[in-house]
Amino acid sequence: MMSQIPVKKKRQPAPPLPANPEDHACFSDVALCLVEKRMGASRKAFLTSLAQRKGFCVEGANSERVTHVVSEGNSGDEVVEWMKRNGSRSVDAAGSGPALLDISWFTESMSAGQPVEIEPRHCLRVAVHAETLEARGQVAAYACQRRTPLAHKNQLLVEALETVAEEALFCGSEARNLAFSRAASVLKSLPWTIRGVNEISSLPCIGEHSRKIIQEVLEDGASAEVENVRQSERYQTMKHFMKIFGVGVKTAGQWYQEGLRTISDLQAYHTKLNNAQQAGLLHYRDLNSPVKRSEAEAIVQEVQKAVDQFLPGASVTLTGGFRRGKPSGHDVDLLITHPTEGQEVGLLSKVVSWLDSQGFLLYHSNRRNTFQVLEDPELSISTATMDRFDRCFSIFCLNYLHGSVKRDSSAWEPACGLKDSGDAHGWKAVRVDLVVAPYSQFSFALLGWTGSRNFERDLRRFSKHEKKMVLNSHTLYHPEKKIFLTAASEEEIFQHLGLDFIPPEERNA
Ligand code: UTP
Ligand code: MN
Repeated sequence: MMSQIPVKKKRQPAPPLPANPEDHACFSDVALCLVEKRMGASRKAFLTSLAQRKGFCVEGANSERVTHVVSEGNSGDEVVEWMKRNGSRSVDAAGSGPALLDISWFTESMSAGQPVEIEPRHCLRVAVHAETLEARGQVAAYACQRRTPLAHKNQLLVEALETVAEEALFCGSEARNLAFSRAASVLKSLPWTIRGVNEISSLPCIGEHSRKIIQEVLEDGASAEVENVRQSERYQTMKHFMKIFGVGVKTAGQWYQEGLRTISDLQAYHTKLNNAQQAGLLHYRDLNSPVKRSEAEAIVQEVQKAVDQFLPGASVTLTGGFRRGKPSGHDVDLLITHPTEGQEVGLLSKVVSWLDSQGFLLYHSNRRNTFQVLEDPELSISTATMDRFDRCFSIFCLNYLHGSVKRDSSAWEPACGLKDSGDAHGWKAVRVDLVVAPYSQFSFALLGWTGSRNFERDLRRFSKHEKKMVLNSHTLYHPEKKIFLTAASEEEIFQHLGLDFIPPEERNA
């Protein structure tokens, strides 16, 4: 007689597909699929019910939403076969689609009460055949030719490579920084999870050093080199200092050389700080807590109101990471324009003065537009990341208590040093970049300010090396023909460059 494991009848067990599976699930970006083969129907029902009670969403094999396939006693290849037979379209032998996991991941997640991070030991191996590698197609060499969604499938590897990229930057080695950033960026674009080092041989931009790090992470779950970097005093100190607004690699490096290690050291040794750095230090905590989308949108509204007063018809567009779909960011990037060319001249200083007079600004620094088409247009062209629009770097005061961002001056206590988190006073300091672009340059500015940095860098590199054109946030210039190409939309810029259009949400390279 088969012993029946008691199943608490809360909801229908298998196949557990409520009308809206997210109704009861806490972890909306995780959908489990349990492989019945070798597990058996009754154990599957028991585990399904357990997972659902813990707030997990459990789906059938044929659901497109499945992110984690959990099996007991099967090989990776058997799971792929089982998934195929059960109507899954998203799993193939190349390992694309959901993660194929051993029951150990499930057990650990249940006891943790949340999905635990996937480690190599949880993953089932799938034999990768040459033809399936081929079926994946070639991965393009430039980030602007690839689609890179926000959520990618190679978190551990990307984090490892980005750590050494950062370390290279701290050492002033731009070439190594680029090499590691590019390798990480390629992995971010892959629609599958890399499980064996053989899978990277066909990928572009992965050098010997990156390959070694990838191999270590795949085999041991971590790379000794990366861990050493993470532990190193220099790396940690540099990171710490660079979290201060206004502090870059050069300043952080200098302070480190002088023996400074902490923010208290800066104060104790009366380190000379410029205005930006002083503001950065004062609002250190707020500026290092993520800006939420709702906060960004509140600031857009406030800036739009200010802009409307001086130039009706002008628009304020949220760019940067938020436009790429990020739920939070380190700052708010706003692009302002007006459909009548020339109307925007002088707008920014009026808007900033007004915002300041209303107590919205904790800090600001303006820079005038220096971009002009000179006699020789090539002189006005530069591929430097820095554009030359009217621009204001600011720190906004976002007020929670009154639902708007206006600062209540009574809540503001100037402090010599780190102030308490703004939230405690009902307000929060937020970094905001305001940029004004003439209408004819708006598409270029939008493209340039949407990022990601890897995507932008490769757009410019692609233009230069593959198309012999110069792209920046103002224009696209053809030096041989000596013409500026115009564009009324981002799509037109991609067309000029002969690139497929990549929407902002897929530019997270
Ligand atoms: P950010 O540094 O704000 O990055 O630059 P992000 O992608 O929005 O990320 P978080 O969420 O804030 O951390 C946004 C884009 O603006 C461009 C960069 O190329 C980047 O793609 N940018 C930034 C410039 O063109 N010029 C600058 O001076 C700064
Ligand atoms: Mn940003």
